[in-house]
Amino acid sequence: MSIKLNDKYVSGFVRKHEIDFMQVQVNTADRMLREKSGPGSDFLGWVNLPEAYDKEEFARIQVAAKKIQKSCDILVVIGIGGSYLGARAVIEYLKSPLYNNLKKDTPDIYFAGNSISSDALNEILALCEGRDVCVNVISKSGTTTEPAIAFRVFRALLEKKYGKEGARERIFVTTDKARGTLKQFSTAEGYETFVVPDDVGGRFSVLTAVGLLPIATAGIDIEELMNGAAAASHAYTDADLSKNDCYRYAAIRNILYRKGKCIEVLASYEPFSAMFNEWWKQLFGESEGKDGKGIYPASVIFSTDLHSLGQFIQDGNRNIFETVIDIADTGSRFEIPVDPDNVDGLNFLSGKELNLVKKTAMQGTVLAHVDGGVPNILIEVSDRSAYALGELLYFFELVCAISGYLLAVNPFDQPGVESYKKNMFALLGKPGYENLRAELEERLKN
Ligand code: PA5
Repeated sequence: MSIKLNDKYVSGFVRKHEIDFMQVQVNTADRMLREKSGPGSDFLGWVNLPEAYDKEEFARIQVAAKKIQKSCDILVVIGIGGSYLGARAVIEYLKSPLYNNLKKDTPDIYFAGNSISSDALNEILALCEGRDVCVNVISKSGTTTEPAIAFRVFRALLEKKYGKEGARERIFVTTDKARGTLKQFSTAEGYETFVVPDDVGGRFSVLTAVGLLPIATAGIDIEELMNGAAAASHAYTDADLSKNDCYRYAAIRNILYRKGKCIEVLASYEPFSAMFNEWWKQLFGESEGKDGKGIYPASVIFSTDLHSLGQFIQDGNRNIFETVIDIADTGSRFEIPVDPDNVDGLNFLSGKELNLVKKTAMQGTVLAHVDGGVPNILIEVSDRSAYALGELLYFFELVCAISGYLLAVNPFDQPGVESYKKNMFALLGKPGYENLRAELEERLKN
C-alpha cells in the first residue's frame, strides 16, 4: 500500500482497551456496509466502483478528454459541491494549484457555477474572451441553481461564438442517466452525456465521470487513479482493527469524538493539498454533520497556517484532534543555497534539502501539538502519484462511511442542504413557495 496509518501519537489519549471495545461496533458498521443493510444503502455504488465501473464509458471519457484537449484553450467545469470538488482537488494535487499558469499542452481549466458571485462569473467570462472554450457541466440532480445559472451563461456564450452546431461539439454533460432537466435538455440538444450513477452520491463521485472527465482533460492518468483506488478497496476488507488501517482510523476518531474532541483538523505540509482538504471537508462535513452530531472538519496547510491557526491548535480550546498527511516523497527537490557572507545567519541550513526542513518542521509540530493536548494521527503517503492519490481518496471515503455508521448517522444523505435552498427560492419568488415567502419576509422585516 502507498498509505499507512501511524497512530503512535494518539497513545496518550486513546487506550488500547478503548480500541478493543470498538471492535464490535466496527464489525457491525462493516456488516451494514458490506451487506447493504445500513441507512443510505442505496448509495453504496462507490464501494466497488474502482473495479465495477462502466468500461465503455471510461473509454468514452478518455476520447472526450482528447477531443477537449485538441479543440480548446479553456475547459470551463460547471458544478458545485461533490460535482466539482473532487476534480479540482485531484488536478491541483497532482498538477499544481497553479495548473493554469504552467507551460502545458492541455487546456486551462476554470471552475464555474460553484458560487453565486457575479465577480467570479465575470472573471471567468473575461478570461474566455478570444480563446477557444469547451464546457463540462456536471449536476447529478440537473436542477441545482448555481451551476444552472452558469450553464445558461456559458451555453449562450458558446452558441454565440460557434453557432448551435459548433456549441454542440463543445458541450459535455455529466448528469443522471435518465432524470432531471439537464438530462432532458441534453438529449434534446444532442450533447454528449456521461452518467453519475444512481447509487453514487455527489461527494463520493470523484471516481465517476464527474471527476474523471476534467481530470483526464488535465492530462492525468485516470487508469492509475482507478488502480490505486482498486488496491485500497482490496486492502481494507478485513474488519479486524489490528489489520485494517482504515477502520482503525475510523474507530480512533470516534473514540476521540466521545472524549470531546469534536473538531478534526486535516493538516498537510503541501499547498497543492489545499483543494484536497476542501474535498475532504465536504466528504466528512456533509456525511457526518447531522442529527445534532458530528466531528467538524477543518483544515490547515502548514507551515503557512502555523503562522495563523497554529496558535489556536497549540494553545486554544482543547476540543481538537489533528490528522496529518505526510507525503514521503513529492518528487521535487530544492537545495538551500550558501551565502558566503551569511548575512541572514541561515548558513546552518546551507546545502540542506528544503524537504528535510519541512520534515523536521512536521516532526517538531506534531510533538508540540501532542504536548499541547492535541492528539495527532498521521497518514503516511509514499509519493505524489495518481496511484497513491487513488488509494487516499478511497481510504477517506471508506473511513467516512464506517465513521458515519459508528456515529449512528446516515452518512449518505444531506437533508440539511435543503433548508437554505427552500428559503432562497421562496425569497426569490419561485412559484410554489408563496406562503413561505410571506413568512420569511415578515421575519426579515422585524
Ligand atoms: O455531495 C453531494 O451530494 C452534494 O454536494 C452535491 O454534489 C451538490 O449539492 C451538487 O448537486 P448536483 O450534482 O445535483 O448539482
